[in-house]
Amino acid sequence: MIARPESSAFAQQTAKPRVPFRVPSVDEIKDSTYRAAAVRGRAILLATRDSLPRNVGNSLRCASCHLDGGLRRDAMPWVGAFARFPQYRARSGKVDLIEDRINDCFRRSMNGRALDPAGKDMRDIVTYFAFLSSGTPVGAETEGQGLPRLEPLTGDPARGAGVFAVTCSRCHGVSGQGTALAPPLWGPRSYNLGAGMARINTAASFIHAVMPFDRALQLTAQQAFDVATYVNTRPRPDFAAKVRDWPRGGKPDDADYHVLPTH
Ligand code: HEC
Ligand code: HEC
Repeated sequence: MIARPESSAFAQQTAKPRVPFRVPSVDEIKDSTYRAAAVRGRAILLATRDSLPRNVGNSLRCASCHLDGGLRRDAMPWVGAFARFPQYRARSGKVDLIEDRINDCFRRSMNGRALDPAGKDMRDIVTYFAFLSSGTPVGAETEGQGLPRLEPLTGDPARGAGVFAVTCSRCHGVSGQGTALAPPLWGPRSYNLGAGMARINTAASFIHAVMPFDRALQLTAQQAFDVATYVNTRPRPDFAAKVRDWPRGGKPDDADYHVLPTH
């Protein structure tokens, strides 16, 4: 069963404007300097490690999880995301700028180091994200944003190992280490323990919606939770600063780590 964001009580209470999903074309950009910045930002997101080796600590690229270069609806698209920032986020306990959100994915999903928020690399990525929100009112929700969220189920890692062997290993490798076809799912070259993907509900919803890459939506919700539980109980890099997450409380049940008391 899928709990779509539009059906949530929260979405109804806040009654934010909602816009259709539309991918703008870079040909729409008239100014050549703006276009060059946006195109360079997009190149970083597609070839993150080659572009910024000092900031990436694993074998993923930004588009490993934000599929089709962040242009696919229901696969955590970047289309419309810029318009939702600045945004209060419970994990940081403060109002985050989009630069903060980008650096969260650098430090956690990419197991790497934050970009200088005032530097050219961040400027170009933010320019591309702003462009992907062209025409979207500030604060608006975009159809197809985030992921279709599954209702939580209890996963069984032993059953998940079976799903992995049958359905995932042909691309991600028999020990999850990645191959030329797909990036690592665990081990030292994968996302770290502080990443959103390290949470079972997020991973299960992602896997159910978009994996296997060539034939999505063939797993049942239970199989998605089983394989997500298997993947996320394998070893992966730590993220020591995770103890300071959710400083004002509100830690979700599937964030399976200790945090300091509200501070
Ligand atoms: C391991 C998977 C993974 C990788 C790799 C990754 N992200 Fe993310 N990203 C996520 C998850 C999970 C979320 C939260 C999505 C949600 O809850 O709807 C997210 C959210 C975001 C958001 C906010 C989107 C929104 O709709 O509010 C931005 C912006 C973002 N990521 C940028 C990046 C950038 C830039 C990179 C590369 C430096 C990157 N991500 C790499 C998993 C990943
Ligand atoms: C046909 C090959 C293929 C199969 C089979 C497949 N994947 Fe993937 N998967 C990919 C590719 C390719 C990407 C990265 C997409 C990109 O870089 O554009 C990916 C990305 C991912 C990611 C996010 C990035 C990372 O490495 O953590 C997860 C999680 C994931 N797959 C899980 C699974 C699971 C679980 C299964 C089995 C149910 C599965 N995949 C089956 C090709 C595949």
